[in-house]
Amino acid sequence: MTGRKELTGSAAIVTGGSRGIGLGIAGALAEAGARVAVVARDGEKAEAVIAELEGSGHAAYSCDVADAKACKRTVARVESAQGPVATLVNNAGITRDNIVLRLRDDDWSQVIATNLGGAFNMIRATARGMMKRRSGSIVNITSVIGLMGNAGQANYAASKAGLHGLTKSVAKELASRNIRCNAVAPGFILTDMTSALADAQVDELKKRIPAGRLGEPADVCGLVRFLAGPEAGYITGQIIAVDGGMAM
Ligand code: NAI
Repeated sequence: MTGRKELTGSAAIVTGGSRGIGLGIAGALAEAGARVAVVARDGEKAEAVIAELEGSGHAAYSCDVADAKACKRTVARVESAQGPVATLVNNAGITRDNIVLRLRDDDWSQVIATNLGGAFNMIRATARGMMKRRSGSIVNITSVIGLMGNAGQANYAASKAGLHGLTKSVAKELASRNIRCNAVAPGFILTDMTSALADAQVDELKKRIPAGRLGEPADVCGLVRFLAGPEAGYITGQIIAVDGGMAM
């Protein structure tokens, strides 16, 4: 898709855009011509990111997506500085892995509040404007773990499966206003989140992935860009895995 600028003139929010998959998505949307708002907990890192993005009009915002009021304030700031938000990518996510019996209350509530609550907070904060304009695309970054479950990740799997329900419900509520909502479910992607995996674990994982390799952020970005753009205008409520065939 390089060379085309199908998102020119529009603003796009990417939560968790300071590194990993979100950083790749911010780059892809900037390449498509969008003015990108990189929203992350670590605002300073996000500042460094926007300096590297193609084009102009990008900005960084420090915001904890688990904080509903902060999300509302951030969206208002984005809209006054960068214009109406046409694309929202809910990518911010965390893991707090442990077996069910050892999960602490905090491990459960923080993962649900960030991964699921964060997407809800951002959707609620942007949807009114999108409804008024009768246009918008929301992409939730979920996980194949939300489809398959995973021992040691009950909190994370529940948050991502919840996001699948949120995606379909929002798609049904907002389709008549020309707002689409889809989910992209990555498999194992090489980022800070997966850097703690031991070599033996990676080898084990590769055996479960028909493509025989872990993914790169770049494997996910093209699909997000496509879903944000006009060519995906009749696609809504879908969960699309990007996982080298792992979940099929
Ligand atoms: P990462 O850990 O490298 O980056 C996470 C980003 O989210 C960072 O920018 C961080 O600042 C931000 N973030 C975390 N909590 C936040 C909060 N409360 N408020 C605002 N920003 C917050 O993660 P990675 O690997 O790039 O993952 C991105 C998304 O993709 C996550 O939703 C993750 O669950 C999902 N995913 C990742 C996979 C992988 O193998 N790396 C596989 C499947 C899904």
